[in-house]
Amino acid sequence: MPSSSLLVLLAVQISLIVTFCLAADPFVYYDFDVSYITVSPLGVPQQVIAVNGKFPGPPVNVTTNNNVVINVRNKLDEDLLMTWAGVYQRKSSWQDGVLGTNCPIPPKWNWTYQFQVKDQIGSYFYFPSINFQKASGGYGAFIINNRPIIPIPFAAPYGDIVMLIGDWYTRNHTDLRKTLKWRERYNDTLVPDGIEYETINVHPGKTYRLRVHNVGISTSLNFRIQSHNLLLAETEGSYTVQQNYTSLDIHVGQSYSFLVTMDQNASSDYYIVASARFVNQTVWKRVVGVAILHYSNSKGKASGALPDPPQDEYDKTFSMNQARSIRWNVTASGARPNPQGSFRYGSINVTDVYVLQNKPPLLIDGKQQTTLNGMSFANPATPIRLADQYKVKGVYKLDFPHRPSTGPPLKKTSVINGTYRGFFEIILQNNDTKVQTYHLDGYAFFVVGMDFGEWTENSRGTYNKWDGIARTTAQVYPGAWTAVLVSLDNVGVWNLRTENLDSWYLGQETYIRVVNPEATNQTELSMPDNALYCGSLSKLQKPEDISLATASAGNPLRLLLTLLMIRAAVSAFQPVLATTSAGNPLQLLFALWFLHSSSLIVSDVLASVFQTAFVRVSCSFNLWVVFVHSFDSFNLFI
Ligand SMILES: *[C@@H]1O[C@H](CO)[C@@H](O)[C@H](O)[C@H]1NC(C)=O
Ligand SMILES: *[C@@H]1O[C@H](CO)[C@@H](O)[C@H](O)[C@H]1NC(C)=O
Ligand SMILES: *[C@@H]1O[C@H](CO)[C@@H](O)[C@H](O)[C@H]1NC(C)=O
Ligand SMILES: *[C@@H]1O[C@H](CO)[C@@H](O)[C@H](O)[C@H]1NC(C)=O
Ligand SMILES: *[C@@H]1O[C@H](CO)[C@@H](O)[C@H](O)[C@H]1NC(C)=O
Ligand SMILES: *[C@@H]1O[C@H](CO)[C@@H](O)[C@H](O)[C@H]1NC(C)=O
Ligand SMILES: *[C@@H]1O[C@H](CO)[C@@H](O)[C@H](O)[C@H]1NC(C)=O
Ligand SMILES: *[C@@H]1O[C@H](CO)[C@@H](O)[C@H](O)[C@H]1NC(C)=O
Ligand SMILES: *[C@@H]1O[C@H](CO)[C@@H](O)[C@H](O)[C@H]1NC(C)=O
Ligand SMILES: *[C@@H]1O[C@H](CO)[C@@H](O)[C@H](O)[C@H]1NC(C)=O
Ligand SMILES: *[C@@H]1O[C@H](CO)[C@@H](O)[C@H](O)[C@H]1NC(C)=O
Ligand SMILES: *[C@@H]1O[C@H](CO)[C@@H](O)[C@H](O)[C@H]1NC(C)=O
Repeated sequence: MPSSSLLVLLAVQISLIVTFCLAADPFVYYDFDVSYITVSPLGVPQQVIAVNGKFPGPPVNVTTNNNVVINVRNKLDEDLLMTWAGVYQRKSSWQDGVLGTNCPIPPKWNWTYQFQVKDQIGSYFYFPSINFQKASGGYGAFIINNRPIIPIPFAAPYGDIVMLIGDWYTRNHTDLRKTLKWRERYNDTLVPDGIEYETINVHPGKTYRLRVHNVGISTSLNFRIQSHNLLLAETEGSYTVQQNYTSLDIHVGQSYSFLVTMDQNASSDYYIVASARFVNQTVWKRVVGVAILHYSNSKGKASGALPDPPQDEYDKTFSMNQARSIRWNVTASGARPNPQGSFRYGSINVTDVYVLQNKPPLLIDGKQQTTLNGMSFANPATPIRLADQYKVKGVYKLDFPHRPSTGPPLKKTSVINGTYRGFFEIILQNNDTKVQTYHLDGYAFFVVGMDFGEWTENSRGTYNKWDGIARTTAQVYPGAWTAVLVSLDNVGVWNLRTENLDSWYLGQETYIRVVNPEATNQTELSMPDNALYCGSLSKLQKPEDISLATASAGNPLRLLLTLLMIRAAVSAFQPVLATTSAGNPLQLLFALWFLHSSSLIVSDVLASVFQTAFVRVSCSFNLWVVFVHSFDSFNLFI
């Protein structure tokens, strides 16, 4: 049947349609079919979450100010929400894809996100935000390119390579989340030997932009390439002062762009390594992700020892100093022609201060929970933003404590009362024993300071008031604090959470509610027509609007039009591709996993099997092929 094969064709590829509009900002369309597929990243079949049949999902690759339309179809057996972490969602928290602002997309239903990537550039990634699903995949790169008229502060790289690194568990997300709730011990799956290294092909003398994302659950990773410098150029939307690193710590949820010049003599291939940080190296020494950097004129296999990780196993000072060395290039243009640093955050008066302290998991009503200032966040049945729209009372309280609480921990929906156009100072104090990374939706914040010990008023003396990096995800070392400043100029309800999935799932998050006291429709977009309803508003939901059945019944004329538009877009794009990828017809997109099958609560593990594997995706514009590779396995007993 032609229409159904068209549908299949549409389903297995990204339909990227660019409408060339003279007056308005262009629209870019994507279709995301989110489903389970069975792949064997560890040599044994495992169910993972794929987007359009691909694991990892396809990159969203757009340009500043594009209007992005992504129709997400939920083909899982449970609710889904996709979040575009790092996208500011100017005026549109309706599209953020977290439970405080959106109702989840039920199984077999679809929901179309539409938002503008306004005044933004940078490297990010998307992922499913609920039900611990990120542990099973569902993620992919989200790239926002500069508009052609805005120069990037470095020569155009020869190639653009995306690498996803992260810890990986042999148990799927449904099993893992049960383990978390009930602290069960579990039995790890054994993995066979004989898994191969993955190879990335490069040309000698060329400079590549490597966008590296830690998409894992809870492990900080050190990333390095044998004999090659990593020239740091961008992190989560800010161009940095360009500095060489031999290795860089990338914490859960963080993204970096490196410029890597293939300047070695190709006497051999080189190792690319991602290894776990701040764990007992005796135990974890071989728990490393390895891939191969292969020069087109290489004379032999990679050899020698893997490049060393920093020798600071129990001293986090090196890592913190490295983090402090990441500075904003205040003379580089970002999304706009004016230099980024023209926003002098250091001279703005702070209007409100929050000290947010997290602690190791504790029991609330017999269940394991994590907290911020003694509050374990309870997701409301009716999303906060929707409740405001319909004046539903009692959904949440604007009583989030300004300081760590001394009282008993509570599980409730306690939200930070943001002040529109206020300038907030947020100090994140980590009283847990592992690194936490915090992410704020809707904004980039200025990372102005971090240090060990308890934050005090005097700590402000150490703040960087000039070129602290503006980013969306900042790490907080155990027993240490990180201070961020944020200008609350984006109306909406915004999630502030730890990106460590285990801690997040157990309640280590809250929301900042930013309301313009003036009655105007200029500072926030109106509720989208297709908004889903749930909780106390579920009666308002019209089932026929969102059923996948109606969507896939398909109108043949519409499909034909869509297909023609795709083809038109492809041909319109070819000259662009030809110029940007001259001599590099196969646009390589590459993902690297650092995988292991340990328990989330390491002390509960009886025996673990660690395993490393790599997945490479190669892309020839709108056809996506996944090669799954994996390598080396061994047993490990703690
Ligand atoms: C993103 O698209 C641009 C063309 O608009 C292309 O040059 C670039 O290589 C693409 N990046 C990736 C990672 O696909
Ligand atoms: C579901 O997808 C169809 C097109 O396939 C679209 O018309 C409809 O608006 C989508 N539903 C929602 C709620 O976005
Ligand atoms: C900062 O950006 C400017 C403008 O693009 C560039 O010329 C300069 O080299 C960059 N400085 C550093 C230290 O990276
Ligand atoms: C997760 O794995 C368990 C077996 O360990 C299986 O019963 C369950 O169906 C799996 N769930 C998903 C969503 O793959
Ligand atoms: C763990 O699982 C393997 C394979 O499924 C099984 O052979 C083994 O007996 C299990 N071990 C324990 C301690 O349950
Ligand atoms: C970084 O290292 C490369 C060699 O790999 C060198 O050519 C370049 O000058 C260095 N850049 C900086 C800013 O140190
Ligand atoms: C260059 O290659 C030769 C072998 O071809 C090797 O002996 C030498 O050590 C290499 N030099 C560097 C700097 O890697
Ligand atoms: C690291 O693990 C090894 C092996 O289990 C153990 O002997 C050693 O004491 C551990 N080191 C620390 C500092 O915990
Ligand atoms: C900041 O506050 C000080 C007094 O506390 C005041 O003198 C100054 O004008 C304020 N600056 C701005 C930019 O509002
Ligand atoms: C929230 O903050 C605003 C000022 O930004 C204040 O007017 C309002 O009373 C506060 N609401 C609560 C419940 O504290
Ligand atoms: C946690 O807080 C307590 C009390 O302030 C302090 O004694 C302890 O050192 C802190 N631990 C960490 C890891 O910060
Ligand atoms: C905003 O409000 C004005 C008057 O209240 C109305 O004319 C206009 O259509 C509204 N704009 C939007 C985008 O809703």
